Amino acid sequence: MNDRPAPAPDPADDGALLSVRGVDIDYRTGRRSRVTAVRGVGFDLHPGQSMALVGESGCGKTTLGLGLLRLLPRTGTVSAGQVLFRRKDGRRVDVRSLAKEDLRRFRWNEAAMVFQGAMNAFNPVLTVRDHFLDTFRAHERRGARRTRADLIEHSAALLELVRLDPARVLAAHPHELSGGMRQRALIALALALRPQLLILDEPTTALDILTQRAIVERLTELREELRFAMLFITHDLGLAAELADRVGTMYAGRMIETGTTRDVFHRSRHPYTRALINSVPPVAGDPTVPESLPGGPPSLGALPPGCSFAPRCAHAEPRCSRTRPELDVLRERPEGLSHAAACLRAGDAALFTEGATR
Ligand SMILES: Nc1ncnc2c1ncn2[C@@H]1O[C@H](COP(=O)(O)OP(=O)(O)OP(=O)(O)O)[C@@H](O)[C@H]1O
Ligand code: SF4
Ligand SMILES: [Mg+2]
Repeated sequence: MNDRPAPAPDPADDGALLSVRGVDIDYRTGRRSRVTAVRGVGFDLHPGQSMALVGESGCGKTTLGLGLLRLLPRTGTVSAGQVLFRRKDGRRVDVRSLAKEDLRRFRWNEAAMVFQGAMNAFNPVLTVRDHFLDTFRAHERRGARRTRADLIEHSAALLELVRLDPARVLAAHPHELSGGMRQRALIALALALRPQLLILDEPTTALDILTQRAIVERLTELREELRFAMLFITHDLGLAAELADRVGTMYAGRMIETGTTRDVFHRSRHPYTRALINSVPPVAGDPTVPESLPGGPPSLGALPPGCSFAPRCAHAEPRCSRTRPELDVLRERPEGLSHAAACLRAGDAALFTEGATR
């Protein structure tokens, strides 16, 4: 393998809400075996910014989201790096070292996650009202305890924020709601304690296009109203383009391109991001045929040496199988928005002008 020693962690970006530095996440797969599902990932997210994480199934998006909030299953561990978060009082803490009680307060109060698959996130025997009451009671500071009537009134206001009818939804059990309603109820629940960071994992997958649209529009409005930062995990590049200020492409556990949505989608400097974009079916009327990407991602336990994408890359050179490309900055921008790509040929302008992305 060509893995170099991990670089020293970069200093945190002072204005950033979240500074992720060199994060590795492992899963234990047997008594003596483990796989590394996320490798050396780093990025900054500023207050109010929204970042989309894109990439094929299994590239580590959910693992990264769960790892940032220490919500991994028991077999998962953040084994290296830092997850620096600027708290409401201005102090910066490493989420990895928060004690249990502090971690409980951090989740929901400062950072919340809407999980992939809304049904599984609800307890089927509890009503939506019970979910709100439990969340408030478990995570509000002791001194701030409010009456049940106050909490229900607050829950109703949150449901109205996501355009749900509180009279109907509060008394309902999760199975009595449609998929889109459940998803919106989950978003309202995640916003209950006014977190500064909201992580959404595929929040609109499996919803019809009109419901998707309604949720996306509401999320955009809410972000403007409440100024939370958002990490948005999705397969849907159209949604990413619409909702995100910036995009991070992941491949086999690594971040391989990051930058503003415009830089990554319109001036991409990584063949994998290009392939993802070119594999999206064109809108009606566009005669361009989408290109499929040959092969599949490598097994995490047997990554090829050098660039992990080399076996599938149409532009691979012999050196690509020997040297692992670092995520190098191509264009400096403020507030964590620099354009960076992990490709040995990223500087080869001719390569990236031919066959430009749609
Ligand atoms: N509990 C687990 N134990 C072992 N390996 C796991 C576990 N959960 C996930 N993995 C592995 O980690 C890798 C990343 O999985 P993850 O769920 O983060 O991918 P993803 O990008 O979210 O995929 P999708 O788009 O399908 O949701 C995959 O190879 C997966 O098999
Ligand atoms: S480093 Fe080489 S193999 Fe990897 S993406 Fe760039 S050109 Fe392709
Ligand atoms: Mg996932």
